[in-house]
Amino acid sequence: MAEIVLSHIKKVYPNETKKKGLFGKKKVKERKTNLQVTEEGVLAVQDFNLTVHDQEFVVFVGPSGCGKSTTLRMIAGLEEITSGDLTIDGVRMNDVAPKDRDIAMVFQSYALYPNMSVYENMAFTLKLKKVPKDEIDRKVRAAAETLGITQYLDRKPKALSGGQRQRVAIGRAIVRDPKVFLMDEPLSNLDAKLRNQMRAELIKLRHEINGTFIYVTHDQTEAMTLGDRIVIMKDGVVQQIGTPQEVFNHPANIFVAGFIGMPQMNFFDATLARFDNEFHAETAHFDIPLSPSVCRRLDETIDPASRVEVTVGVRPEQIQLCSADDLGALTGRIEVTELMGSTVHVHVSTPDASFVLVLPAGDLESEGGTLATGDEVHFKFEPEAVHIFDRETGVALS
Ligand SMILES: Nc1ncnc2c1ncn2[C@@H]1O[C@H](COP(=O)(O)OP(=O)(O)O)[C@@H](O)[C@H]1O
Ligand SMILES: [Mg+2]
Repeated sequence: MAEIVLSHIKKVYPNETKKKGLFGKKKVKERKTNLQVTEEGVLAVQDFNLTVHDQEFVVFVGPSGCGKSTTLRMIAGLEEITSGDLTIDGVRMNDVAPKDRDIAMVFQSYALYPNMSVYENMAFTLKLKKVPKDEIDRKVRAAAETLGITQYLDRKPKALSGGQRQRVAIGRAIVRDPKVFLMDEPLSNLDAKLRNQMRAELIKLRHEINGTFIYVTHDQTEAMTLGDRIVIMKDGVVQQIGTPQEVFNHPANIFVAGFIGMPQMNFFDATLARFDNEFHAETAHFDIPLSPSVCRRLDETIDPASRVEVTVGVRPEQIQLCSADDLGALTGRIEVTELMGSTVHVHVSTPDASFVLVLPAGDLESEGGTLATGDEVHFKFEPEAVHIFDRETGVALS
């Protein structure tokens, strides 16, 4: 059992002062950051609230510097919690030493002991805990079997590939049989192919071992494929918490909408105009009627009388080619086509904005031949695909 509750967790890194220069003059060390800086210091994490359920796999995702590692390290006990409460299974952990939290952590850098064999690396913490030899042996061999590294048990880490080393690091965590696994970008040092393979193995692994997982990554694909729920962070502030489907289909704001999904969601500025119960998104050149369900939600979120300046978002997969006289049809010119195999990414410029469309590769075949750079195309958005955001605050209105 392990339920982890973070309640109003905050982290301030105090302003660093360093002795510098000939006269021992103190100079504040500056860090490049978008984070809020107060008199106390840098606000690396603000008001973080989350309940991670027993056996759940939660992913923290966000751009570099947004506070993912800091939050994870506070859970591990490697970083002091400035304020707020951390509990594991109802017990307050703020002041409990890392070794007493029943947590195992896996780092990006593997952190293996270079002069120990794989076996010794995996057995090390159990030996320290004076676990009987035969029990250690059983656990190490079982973990090695699960991870497919049995044949490397006698090797030193330097004789292993990056992927194998990371398996050892994960194995070292598994043998301890902890309540909680914390992983900080464990796959970031691997090449793309190996990363995909290890990602699939992690999905398998989590179903084989009982534990609660918190996994940190900057990679939205990893977050989407691994997480039961994902926590999207920016500048030390949680932007949205939800299942991969929820955050993909109903992003809470422009940041989440742009961060989740590849290629990125298309955005353009428009004005919302209302005709009775219908809303249209208007630009200088286009008038896009919005679907009844989008209109219903807008009706609840915005002031009926006003014309509202919005940002419209549409995912590249939710745009189709159409004919010029279709309702809501946009017209643009093809700038670039990128064949990705079964799909093609088509970059289209219109007078108001640029769009990326993801189309089945066959869609570019027209009666006159294959559509190519410079050709004019007409396209429209799937009715439910249109996201409307307040242009000023970025908050989703639809
Ligand atoms: N020891 C530290 N002292 C001061 N600032 C720090 C320290 N560690 C991290 N930070 C700052 O806190 C912010 C969050 O860092 P971090 O949690 O490592 O981000 P992430 O893991 O999301 O990339 C960053 O802006 C970073 O510069
Ligand atoms: Mg980090």
